[in-house]
Amino acid sequence: MTTNQDWINRDLSVLWHPCTQMKDHETLPPIPIARGKDSWLYDFDGRRYLDAIGSWWLNLFGHANPFINERIKAQLDQLEHVILAGFSHQPVIELSERLVALTPSGLNRVFYADNGSSGIEVALKMSFHYWRNANRPEKTRFIALENSYHGETLGALGVGNMSIFTETYAPLIRPASIAPSPDCQQADPGETCADVTARALAAMRDLLEQEAHQTCAVIVEPLVQCAAGMRMHEPAYLTGLRALCDEFDVHLIADEIAVGFGRTGTLFACEQAGITPDILCLSKGITAGYLPLAAILTTESIYQAFYADRPSQRAFLHSHSYTGNPLACAAALATLDLFERDQVIERNRQRAPMIDRLSAPLAAHPHIANLRRTGMIVAMDLVDARGQPYPRSDRRGQKAYRYALDHEVLLRPLGETLYWMPPYTLSDDEWQILAEVTLGAVEAATRA
Ligand SMILES: Cc1ncc(COP(=O)(O)O)c(C=O)c1O
Repeated sequence: MTTNQDWINRDLSVLWHPCTQMKDHETLPPIPIARGKDSWLYDFDGRRYLDAIGSWWLNLFGHANPFINERIKAQLDQLEHVILAGFSHQPVIELSERLVALTPSGLNRVFYADNGSSGIEVALKMSFHYWRNANRPEKTRFIALENSYHGETLGALGVGNMSIFTETYAPLIRPASIAPSPDCQQADPGETCADVTARALAAMRDLLEQEAHQTCAVIVEPLVQCAAGMRMHEPAYLTGLRALCDEFDVHLIADEIAVGFGRTGTLFACEQAGITPDILCLSKGITAGYLPLAAILTTESIYQAFYADRPSQRAFLHSHSYTGNPLACAAALATLDLFERDQVIERNRQRAPMIDRLSAPLAAHPHIANLRRTGMIVAMDLVDARGQPYPRSDRRGQKAYRYALDHEVLLRPLGETLYWMPPYTLSDDEWQILAEVTLGAVEAATRA
């Protein structure tokens, strides 16, 4: 029987892992996973890990979910893939109809890509190209928010504002203008979150007054800026931003790649603000974490600006080989069926008080600041005895990660921010395990 060590040896001789300083694996090797079941991952030595981060914010309904498995298997015997230019297929048509029905009203057209970053590229190019087709060629720039993250391709990095990802590639990137984040944690003493919202909207107005004439779109992660540390803002910010984009004639791109599909407590975060963006990007949870897929929804008026007699004139000549893959679409349809069948949004809402009860001891912990929750995302920051952030070089988050792994939980802190973003399948007992291990991880990580 092969052991973890066998696989680790083979892994480290051929693989280059994503978002990883490979030398770190000298002291903490990658964990080879043999199988998954429900909310747990199992390695080759028989150890298990509770997947508290949904395997990079993807998994919604547990690993090896029998319902989704069956649907993918059935699709596999029908059609594994077909080119989506000039051809079409049942799962992609049905998925498009369902997404149009479920997303905020006015989003009537669905374009596909095969991962989140590519979905962002589509959104940026579509917005730019729309303005060109609308005889506004001077609109070539974008506005993004401080601390934003929209993926790792060069276009997506251009609308990102996390130096850890952008700095090295600066010579290759065409940076967006950056507006202040409405992140509630940025409240000054005596300020409320509503004050931060008002301040951020006022700053956005100032920027648009100067730059709207050359701006294609404002891009935003609605309600939670995930990668920058689960920074949360009020729905009122989105409502205000929609009004500003209308007033200044720029598109609003909502990147719900991480927060879509129930993470914020509603199927889509934009619902809480009662807004329809001009372009909505979905990925990650769209297939419940099974297969790569991105859907980019837009309005009939944007779609019509591309409709013309000759392709070279105005058409959107963007494509990816696996665009709208039938297996991925089948997984997405099964995902939507599970939301409906199990009333997932309502059930999650009912569990919120239990989650708050379990996180209360963490909120009260002297080494935790800013415990916050939006829907099914809970986050908290490690702080020192004076309530100050630790220096990054201390790698306290990494210590918490190791402690949690030793105690059967996959937590993957973002710097010094610990967070929970698990599948919706956790039982009450599993939530309890998660809270207890997180408390232990905080103690272990903050020991002097
Ligand atoms: C908000 C947001 N947008 C875009 C992306 C990029 O998605 P992908 O990793 O599939 O390229 C991510 C990934 O974490 C994300 O969180």
